[in-house]
Amino acid sequence: MRVVSGIQPTGDLHLGNLLGAILRWVRMQDEAECLFFLADLHALTVDIDPAQLRSSIREMAAALIASGIDPAKSTLFRQSDIPAHAELTWILQGTARMGWLNRMTQWKDKAGKNREGASVGLFTYPVLQAADILLYRATHVPVGEDQKQHIELTRDIALKFNTDFDVDLFVPPEPFIGGGTAARVMSLRDGTSKMSKTDPSEMSRIQLTDSDESIGQKIRKAKTDPEPLPDNAKALDGRPEARNLVGIYAAVTGDSVEQVLGRYAGQGFGQFKPALADSVIALIAPIRQRLEELRGDPDELDRILAAGAKRAAELGAPTLAKAKSAVGLKA
Ligand code: TYM
Repeated sequence: MRVVSGIQPTGDLHLGNLLGAILRWVRMQDEAECLFFLADLHALTVDIDPAQLRSSIREMAAALIASGIDPAKSTLFRQSDIPAHAELTWILQGTARMGWLNRMTQWKDKAGKNREGASVGLFTYPVLQAADILLYRATHVPVGEDQKQHIELTRDIALKFNTDFDVDLFVPPEPFIGGGTAARVMSLRDGTSKMSKTDPSEMSRIQLTDSDESIGQKIRKAKTDPEPLPDNAKALDGRPEARNLVGIYAAVTGDSVEQVLGRYAGQGFGQFKPALADSVIALIAPIRQRLEELRGDPDELDRILAAGAKRAAELGAPTLAKAKSAVGLKA
């Protein structure tokens, strides 16, 4: 079992990233060989501020370590430190089909109506993601629900490449999506859109950098409906905001939705929200404190990323060499 997953280093890590991906990565560290990386090449597919991107690398590395990623157990590195990701992407662009990429919902959402004006990188983004995964012959890719389609595409690319070039090189990976409510944490302002780093409203997401007061305020102001909480999960249908808040509580405490409703059925959000805020603060506050400590030692973060890059380069090199050889670029 080999685990590979990445996160874009744009914006602060939020509760959706934490519950949908990072805390699951942390748990997998003891069971499998893990590689986790900062997907800075992916960040180039939308408008960027170079100075911000530069500083966000260490910040995201620190956030991952503060959340529990242990560089002694996992290989933690920066995508652009390993040129093989970009090289393999180019090779795989010969395998991926326009029609496959056209069907990607993230492309459709992000490009919106302005496809002609979207960057080419935004369109081929999932091929880079496939290269990230296939380069290390990952078997499991722990991600939130929103990335499932990209992992399925990675499988298709792997299988087509192996067939076209008659090799047994790439391992079709399994999307490894958490059960329960953590796989898709929604915005606090709109229960039908996902919590996201790029939502213009900071009130829509809880970030690792938020103070306890700010977390309390965001939850107090989170959109809800006037009904009390029901006594069963089915009755949350058609109440996306209520479902989301109950789901967050369940994911943070490790309880099931039914257990949470068993405790709060009949109560209004005036009672539920303070309990939710307490549980989220209990999760985030210690991570935030560790993050503040880690920020004080940028040299150590650089050392960790350099050691991770060395290891990742070694692991990826044989696969790239074989891919080049398969397509005729090398003997
Ligand atoms: P990114 O940076 O958007 O998100 C990082 C991880 O967090 C998960 N996630 C969520 N989970 C639950 N609820 C949410 N609201 C939520 N928002 C984000 C994402 O599913 C992801 O697991 N393309 C990827 C990065 C990437 C990658 C890869 C991942 C690049 N190469 C190779 C896996 C393997 C992305 O933009 O994730």
